[in-house]
Amino acid sequence: MIDIHNHMLPAVDDGAKNVDMALSMLQEAVRQGVEHLVLTPHLYEADIIKGTGDWKSKIEAGKRNILALLSEHNLPVKVTVAAEVRYQDMLPIILEELDVLIGDKYLLLEFAFHSVPNNLERIIYDITRKGVIPIIAHPERIKPWQQDPQRLEELINMGCPTQVDIGSFLGTLGPNTEKLANFLFDRDAVHLVGSDSHNLESRPLYSKPGYDWLTERYGIEYADMLLSVNPGKILKGEAVEVYPVDLSPPKSSWKDKLLNIIKS
Ligand SMILES: [Fe+2]
Repeated sequence: MIDIHNHMLPAVDDGAKNVDMALSMLQEAVRQGVEHLVLTPHLYEADIIKGTGDWKSKIEAGKRNILALLSEHNLPVKVTVAAEVRYQDMLPIILEELDVLIGDKYLLLEFAFHSVPNNLERIIYDITRKGVIPIIAHPERIKPWQQDPQRLEELINMGCPTQVDIGSFLGTLGPNTEKLANFLFDRDAVHLVGSDSHNLESRPLYSKPGYDWLTERYGIEYADMLLSVNPGKILKGEAVEVYPVDLSPPKSSWKDKLLNIIKS
């Protein structure tokens, strides 16, 4: 398995606080059968408001520490360092000055949980014009999309893969999140799943339970596609198949319509 989204790089964000915590998380990943970790620390506007220098040195230090841990403890897992970038006005500077892309092409892009920009399609168009493909990070956790999933449709139809958090479909991140995750699976609108692991307690890895859940529900081929094949393509900068989706609300049956009339 490849974990495309996690916060194990030590002392950078709200994930692994120090090297000891990073080591425990790495050991857990190996125990669950993860062979490659894409480390994606949060990158917010505040992180680079005074320039990109501090961020670069934090990432370099974290990377040195992780590589030292892997060799000291002989851990059989590869790592790639990228970032989970919160959508912000400084995006052009970030893309120019920092190594945030996965496979030199993909950008793990997250939006604020309570609001998404109105001109999102334009924003995505501008990013893709630069040869960068945004991966929409955990869309199922974004409130406006929970209320109206159809607002996501155009982004996927523009070719953006989606990455759902494993905790979302396992039900650890709340009922609304679980509901949208399931809706996206039902509509073939999920291209990757990731742990988004922050620690070993409240936000643990769950890669193996996620793989088992997907296998049981949709079969081993689909589980492999979301946790191994597609993340592997992303790492190599290869194309991931993103087909047009229909995220319109389910059509209500004549029984539902009758019940609504009776209730009103
Ligand atoms: Fe994350």
